[in-house]
Amino acid sequence: MAAFEPVLSRNWNVAQSHTLPVYESRGGYQAARKALTQMDPDGVVNLIKDSELRGRGGAGFPCGLKWSFLPKDRKETLMCINADESEPATFNNRILMEKDPHQLIEGIIIGCFATKATAAYLYVRFEYIKAYQILERAIDEARAKGYLGKNIFGSGFDLEIWVHRGAGAYICGEETGLIESLEGKRGWPRIKPPFPAVEGAFKKPTVVNNVETLACVPHIVERGADWFKSMGTPKSYGPKLYCISGHVNKQTCVELPLGITCRELIEVHGQGVWKGRKAKAVVPGGISMGLLSADELDTPLDFEAIRKPGCLGLGTAAVTVIDDQTSIVDYLYNCARFFAHESCGQCTPCREGTAWIYKTMKRIKLGGGRMEDLTVLGGIQANLGITPGTTICGLADGAAWPIKNALAKFRPELEEYIKTHQDPRYAVTPLQTAITMGSPTTAAVTPVSIGMSSPTGALRSPHSS
Ligand SMILES: Cc1cc2nc3c(=O)[nH]c(=O)nc-3n(C[C@H](O)[C@H](O)[C@H](O)COP(=O)(O)O)c2cc1C
Ligand code: SF4
Repeated sequence: MAAFEPVLSRNWNVAQSHTLPVYESRGGYQAARKALTQMDPDGVVNLIKDSELRGRGGAGFPCGLKWSFLPKDRKETLMCINADESEPATFNNRILMEKDPHQLIEGIIIGCFATKATAAYLYVRFEYIKAYQILERAIDEARAKGYLGKNIFGSGFDLEIWVHRGAGAYICGEETGLIESLEGKRGWPRIKPPFPAVEGAFKKPTVVNNVETLACVPHIVERGADWFKSMGTPKSYGPKLYCISGHVNKQTCVELPLGITCRELIEVHGQGVWKGRKAKAVVPGGISMGLLSADELDTPLDFEAIRKPGCLGLGTAAVTVIDDQTSIVDYLYNCARFFAHESCGQCTPCREGTAWIYKTMKRIKLGGGRMEDLTVLGGIQANLGITPGTTICGLADGAAWPIKNALAKFRPELEEYIKTHQDPRYAVTPLQTAITMGSPTTAAVTPVSIGMSSPTGALRSPHSS
């Protein structure tokens, strides 16, 4: 097999790689020129379909197929580029934008040409100030050179790109939350259908794509679908930017073919687990995707294989290593706090479920855990999300998965923690139990506050009788 040649990151170590002259000196904008002057929009859509490029934003939906869902009789099309990148431990989009903004702009031009979009909204995470500044400068450079604006490459195609900064909310990465936020509203995901391809931003047919997905597009136009499919594993083709962080010696972002094993990523590219320790668990693709145990490290990191050990999906392919001296309870507590904070609150199962998981994990962590809490957590996670059909968006599934996988893979550690970390100050009181069970009580016990506004102990599963 031919040696793997990185393409998405090929300019990262070149001086001034974020500038137009450097990008052009390395072959930049030739793919956009080719698409706009030698191909028609349907031809580009078919090429991307043939390449089987799957979205890199989390769900892995086929990009060409998404583009072909746009109504044939549409009068106007918009594109949203999802650069919200709020999934914990994920930073590949940031590097792509800071180091090679013109690669993204070229991908946007081709994507918009293919979908006939004449305006592109680049929705950038609020915290990415440097990326925002670099993008604004790069867009100005491209416009001055005639690569944006009217009649690009003399093709008759017009395009403007507008950079829109988010205000710092995880939920604005969900594509319809992003669209609501772009429209100036609260970032509340929409009930689908209608999907954005039919009714998206400003009620117009809209394509939403991730930064890395679009960065792949110029290379497919330049080198062809067969080249793209020469990398990866069946159903997961092409290069992927993997982030590695947590308890490794080298925290980095590397470009590799899809399907590399978790072990190789950690041992070779992350230079092993830090301090000579072993991995206890690995987060395969952002915290929403769940957990791999130490004996599942030979799992290939692609869209399909990662489901076999029970993970939700590949997600953002942001791998985080948890060493053998870290408590799974601490990890779950942090995840639970994040999701409870980021839930937008529209759906009762997500709003209440994420809060219950958080409160229960907090009490377990502090020393008030009971064995039946694990059953309660199991009941909550099983009823949370799009998978069981109880919520509008996938944030809830992401909140459920770390709990689901931990209960399946780390139950003995959770039980041991509960047994050995008992602190009577945080124990569930008879009054709390009585209140949550709805029973009359005369127990004059004052609930112990552990910094939360409601009783934290005897929460019932939404489905207990
Ligand atoms: C809670 C939540 C957060 C998300 N955050 C992001 C994000 O930060 N960036 C992203 O590209 N996709 C994110 N997504 C996925 C988007 O909804 C959407 O699938 C994606 O932007 C489509 O682009 P792609 O097909 O190119 O992957 C998120 C989804 C959910 C449910
Ligand atoms: S699942 Fe959660 S985050 Fe998503 S729309 Fe419902 S309440 Fe909001």
